[in-house]
Amino acid sequence: MNRAIIILSLLSFVFIYQSCQNQEQPDSDKTAEAHVFAEAEKIYESVCAGCHGLEVAAFADRKEWKFGDSKDSIIYVISNGLAEEGMPAFDSTYSADQINQLADYIIDAKENVEKYRNADPIESDTFQSELLTYRIDTVISGLNSPWGMDFLPGGELLVTDKSGELYMVGSDGNKTEISGVPDVLYEGQGGLMDVELHPNFEQNNFLYLSYSIYKEEDGETLGSTAVARGVLDGNKLSSVEVVFEALPYFATKHHYGSRLSFGTDGKLFITAGERGKRDENPQSLERDGGKVHRINDDGTIPSDNPFVEKEGAKASIYSYGHRNPQGLTIHPVTGEVWEHEHGPRGGDEINIIEKGNNYGWRTISYGINYDGSTFTDKTEMEGMTQPIHYWVPSIAPSGMDFVTGDKYPEWKGNLLVGSLKYKYLDRVEIDGHTIVHEEPLIKGLGRVRSVRMGPDGYIYVGLERPGFVVKLVPVEE
Ligand code: HEC
Repeated sequence: MNRAIIILSLLSFVFIYQSCQNQEQPDSDKTAEAHVFAEAEKIYESVCAGCHGLEVAAFADRKEWKFGDSKDSIIYVISNGLAEEGMPAFDSTYSADQINQLADYIIDAKENVEKYRNADPIESDTFQSELLTYRIDTVISGLNSPWGMDFLPGGELLVTDKSGELYMVGSDGNKTEISGVPDVLYEGQGGLMDVELHPNFEQNNFLYLSYSIYKEEDGETLGSTAVARGVLDGNKLSSVEVVFEALPYFATKHHYGSRLSFGTDGKLFITAGERGKRDENPQSLERDGGKVHRINDDGTIPSDNPFVEKEGAKASIYSYGHRNPQGLTIHPVTGEVWEHEHGPRGGDEINIIEKGNNYGWRTISYGINYDGSTFTDKTEMEGMTQPIHYWVPSIAPSGMDFVTGDKYPEWKGNLLVGSLKYKYLDRVEIDGHTIVHEEPLIKGLGRVRSVRMGPDGYIYVGLERPGFVVKLVPVEE
């Protein structure tokens, strides 16, 4: 009887196998591929894409692979992760088979890189949105990653390239590199990041840059988030001094935060990410990581900061319990400090930053670990501030500004948030502190890294891979 069952199951296996084989012979290769990689594709989209982007071909489009591009080395990285870069290990989440299939899926994508590169990312340069039609004008191209932007009083765009250069772009589109920029650690998520002019720039020519500062210690490179102030004269930055440095330094290469914004009170707000040290940094007032800081324009501490009197606390801290905040802007009407931050897998947040508040990372969160396990079952707790909005799944937000001026009356007062993962600019309609509607703009153009209103009233957007800056120009119908 046992034998009968075995034979029967063998027969049915052969039958299923054959029908599967039959299904694998349609004329289009695509269906066959989708069948082979169905599971890998699902894992990639739900888990890997959060960090590597939705298109696996874009991820596979790299000149150098950390450990070579053999299947074994790809399997090695997926299984063991890259702790210092923020890539988790997946050997306890997925079976050897699943990891094997993921590696095949990536190798297959590698072979399609040319096809992906040659694909035209946008059909036309005119986009139809819910409320208006607009066109895309390229302001500057040929960058690695336009991480931060600001504008000179004469209207010239100042844009950082994460690889370490600061450019001034005139209305003719010509770019001039500014000399005297501090040396940066261009690795992982670090590099030259935000740029912000002093509110009285016309009088003092002060310009602020955030970046990953570094030092060598015991043969190891350690990095941190720093802010330098310099005096801009023509295309030269001089008298450069560090006005903020997050301590301690770490060997990790991710979660630097680094957005800058001057508040209506003339103080400089700085976001510092938790450097991948979620258990040590965000809840400790003795450490700078995982905080929003507030300093005077010369780096000294405002006497009304919340923890100046608290023993052992870092006096520059304004709020704490943050993960990796890459969005910071001031509400044009209320003057409130609006921030957004990357959650883990799920749980990216928008917060209104208030003096001394604890935003809860990693005690409370709407997200889970990248490997699917949980690290907290709490989304709220007494004494911890709730976000006004959170995204599940994560959109990987970077850059934020409010629509002001009169070029887009339909969008006036909306919040704009870049999405690295889904490659769009999220237009967020708000009513007070409530998010009432979202619409993705410029979808598919590129990973949106930065967004800023220009003094000419237009929306400027910085995109990466490849790096360029566009402006959105409404089109009369
Ligand atoms: C939390 C973010 C994160 C998640 C989630 C993540 N990775 Fe990574 N991964 C990284 C970082 C950071 C690197 C190093 C930088 C780079 O090479 O892009 C990396 C590198 C890699 C590499 C090595 C690339 C090389 O150059 O050798 C592979 C392969 C890889 N990831 C595959 C995956 C797969 C497959 C998944 C999903 C199961 C995944 N990753 C999920 C962050 C992540």
